Amino acid sequence: MSATLSTAKAKVDHYAVIGNPIAHSKSPDIHARFAAQTQQDLQYDRLLAPLDGFLASVQSFIRNGGKGLNVTVPFKLEAYALATTLTERARAAGAVNTLKFDGTEMLGDNTDGIGLVTDIVRNAGIAVANKSVLLLGAGGAARGVILPLLSEQPARLVLANRTHAKALDLAHRFSNQPRLKVCEFAEVEDTFDIVINATAASLASEVPPISPRVFGAHTLAYDMMYGKEPTAFMRFAKQHGAIVRDGLGMLVEQAAESFYLWRGVRPETSDVFAELRERL
Ligand code: ATR
Repeated sequence: MSATLSTAKAKVDHYAVIGNPIAHSKSPDIHARFAAQTQQDLQYDRLLAPLDGFLASVQSFIRNGGKGLNVTVPFKLEAYALATTLTERARAAGAVNTLKFDGTEMLGDNTDGIGLVTDIVRNAGIAVANKSVLLLGAGGAARGVILPLLSEQPARLVLANRTHAKALDLAHRFSNQPRLKVCEFAEVEDTFDIVINATAASLASEVPPISPRVFGAHTLAYDMMYGKEPTAFMRFAKQHGAIVRDGLGMLVEQAAESFYLWRGVRPETSDVFAELRERL
């Protein structure tokens, strides 16, 4: 009986989220819910890789039959370098958050940007098409969402960062995109339809030093961070009349997109989102 069980277990497709640290990750919980809902037989674990041991950890995971990985801090750039094939959005992001293993092929994708766009367009019900969008930040988080945002055809996407030179460098990578503009923090004065905070300021309970005039009564102020309480950016935006939303929906939607890449089945996300929100 136990032999039958272990044979059956060995056949279950194995996935994991790899990072350092990893104990806090909500991905196993999200993917277990997706699997139950779509009746997909799979196992999804947390994988703590040593800071200098990403490659060895991935190789050992593959040797043991692993089919795919979500990749989180600090390994997204190493995963990008490791992938044998990259999706267009991963190439634009310069980082990989999803790996899919098939024989010797390692497909690298980045589902963060599509996760953000889906959360804004479908879950919040706010179109990006023809809107003016302000993106704050010029690190990996900002870079990951630029192409998916531009794919929605906004009227313009303005990039602003505390260190202006970094925003210029980042925009340079998308120099074939006429809708993408760069602006200094101090010079952003217009009211935008959508303002996205992709800076790490919320981690320090800080607000990027932008004019409150960027927020109007119909502005969606979106923080890619999330937590039990609204972030400092969300409180600031709300004070100045904006509609606010945190990044929990982006987390669930990027996971759904990874699940779809691996399994070819699209999970329903609203119940999973509601359950996660309740347990924050
Ligand atoms: P990530 O990969 O999460 O984007 P990162 O590459 O370290 O992390 O980038 C952090 C981003 O948050 C940068 O755009 C940073 O601005 P600088 O380029 O000027 O450093 C931004 N950031 C961090 N703290 C901030 C703060 N208190 N106010 C405004 N921007 C901040």
